[in-house]
Amino acid sequence: MSHQSELIADDINAYLKQHEHKSLLRFITCGSVDDGKSTLIGRLLYESKMLFEDQLAAVEADSQRWGTQGDEMDFALLVDGLAAEREQGITIDVAYRFFSTDRRKFIVADTPGHEQYTRNMVTGASTADAAILMVDARRGILTQTRRHSYLASLIGIRHVVVAINKMDLVDYSEKTFQRIVEEYKTFARQIGLDNITFIPLSALKGDNILTPSERMPWYRGATLMGYLETVEVDDELMQASPFRMAVQWVNRPNLDFRGFSGQIASGVIRPGDRIRTLPSGRESTVARIYTHNGDLPQAVAGQSVTLTLDDEIDTSRGDLMCAAESPASVANQFEVTIVWMNDDPMLTGRTYLMKMGTKTVSATITDIKYQVNVNSLEHMAAKKLELNAIGVCTINLDQDVAFDPYQDNHDTGGFILVDRLSYNTMGCGMIHFSLRRSQNITVQHVDVNKQARQSIKKQKPCVLWLTGLSGAGKSTIANLVEKKLFAQGHHTYLLDGDNVRHGLNKDLGFTDADRVENIRRIAEVAKLMVDAGLIVITAFISPFRSERDMARGLLQPGEFMEVFVNTPLEVAEQRDVKGLYRKARRGELKNFTGIDSPYEAPLQPECTLNTVDITAEEAADRIVAFMTEKGYLS
Ligand code: ADX
Repeated sequence: MSHQSELIADDINAYLKQHEHKSLLRFITCGSVDDGKSTLIGRLLYESKMLFEDQLAAVEADSQRWGTQGDEMDFALLVDGLAAEREQGITIDVAYRFFSTDRRKFIVADTPGHEQYTRNMVTGASTADAAILMVDARRGILTQTRRHSYLASLIGIRHVVVAINKMDLVDYSEKTFQRIVEEYKTFARQIGLDNITFIPLSALKGDNILTPSERMPWYRGATLMGYLETVEVDDELMQASPFRMAVQWVNRPNLDFRGFSGQIASGVIRPGDRIRTLPSGRESTVARIYTHNGDLPQAVAGQSVTLTLDDEIDTSRGDLMCAAESPASVANQFEVTIVWMNDDPMLTGRTYLMKMGTKTVSATITDIKYQVNVNSLEHMAAKKLELNAIGVCTINLDQDVAFDPYQDNHDTGGFILVDRLSYNTMGCGMIHFSLRRSQNITVQHVDVNKQARQSIKKQKPCVLWLTGLSGAGKSTIANLVEKKLFAQGHHTYLLDGDNVRHGLNKDLGFTDADRVENIRRIAEVAKLMVDAGLIVITAFISPFRSERDMARGLLQPGEFMEVFVNTPLEVAEQRDVKGLYRKARRGELKNFTGIDSPYEAPLQPECTLNTVDITAEEAADRIVAFMTEKGYLS
């Protein structure tokens, strides 16, 4: 047992005190499968002799069971154990492992190396001070090495170690090492990655891990552990940046004042400091800094605190508190880099939830400027981003947010994108800068508004959103509804898929991306028409829940009625009025809804019409009756 463990047994307080004052280094390991990541992590854990108790117990139990003895066998079993755990947990994004030496504490984010797990690397890397990039000395720089290096530079990891592993299998050759170093340096220059350290090692044999390897006397640099123990950590850096704290919740630590709680992302704060809350821009002065252990004279990046202010300014969850003299910026349109991490591709025009710090807003990708080929670093045109793709995009939010460029502050410049319906994480991103056009366009106040227009029309403007398969009967029913409403003297407008695709949307086809854009435009047009006081009827397949939901979100509650024209595929296909199903079945029409393109039926439509049981005339009557009953036609 190591001396540290003895200290735990003898004097737990002394042991804890010793640990309290050690700095913490967070790092990730990355590289291709088989580059030896598990072996390396096993080696670091093993050498540090600070295994998690259960890991240690498992290793000991195993070695007893097998009757083995001796350090190397323990090590082999440990590595096997880690690998097995990794295999079982292949769906776990990142496993965090802890160890410590006399000088420092470490958290290593262990991520699977398969190509499709880029997202795991990003997850693990977002808080890392350093990255160990594993390279197999026999194989040199691979696609995965380049991809991970590019991600490391994108995420802004400040220290990169290229660990050239398996030196034992290339006879500890200096020439092989140098060749890889040169090749890597050329690539690193292209992506602007500096601060790179190259270490030749053998994780399996332990060369240059803890002590300098006698088998590589030509290498005079640091050992891996030596490097990890001394490399600068980001905590100090973040304290030097201006104060930022996202408000996580508002509470009342005493009866007189409200308290604003959160974790300090950067900077230092003291009572008496002026702060500005964004996006509102209100200013106040810090009165006290509360913690569980009483008031503090100052607090720094990384600490969770509750601040009280001299004045009761209106601040809520999601706001960003900043140093008043160097506040963050505020905007709602940005250029960003997005790393897509989901099997469902990112589509322009689709609305996602964007989480930034403690704030969640709606965000639409308005444009993909280009996608980056991580091998060649070429910029490629793209209409969508598939799993693992990296793209530079413009993004538009439904409200202002406070931000810093990601390169200045990872916490206030980074975000994740979440699916609106499933709440799955879809991608993550980094803000480059805000787009000035958003700052120069304000909302123009007009005196003749929706209420005024609706009052002279004597109707409640709304959207009847018909959705269903091609051939379900949407257009026929929509046409009948409009005729009936018109006969009653109502002001209506019918937007029909086939017609709009001849004009406004003639540039769009039937890929997922184009359908999303089709519906986005229709939703915006419908919104304008509701503002004009009209009853709008739309007849589009609108196959995705996400976009129908987006359309609903553009309107006020009660203004959007989803009408599911429910016709089973067999029936629509049998009717086949336009002959398109036959064409699609023959393979002459690609991406046909219901055949080789999905249709997502509504989950909670305001109205469902079962067109197998009723005629189009009856369906239209039902809609009009429904609208009368709900007071739209008064
Ligand atoms: S949507 O999916 O983007 O909402 P939209 O309602 O505008 O579709 O257009 C559907 C109409 O386009 C269909 O009624 C059909 O006449 C025609 N069409 C042509 N190609 C396709 C296709 N691949 N999938 C579905 N409809 C198609």
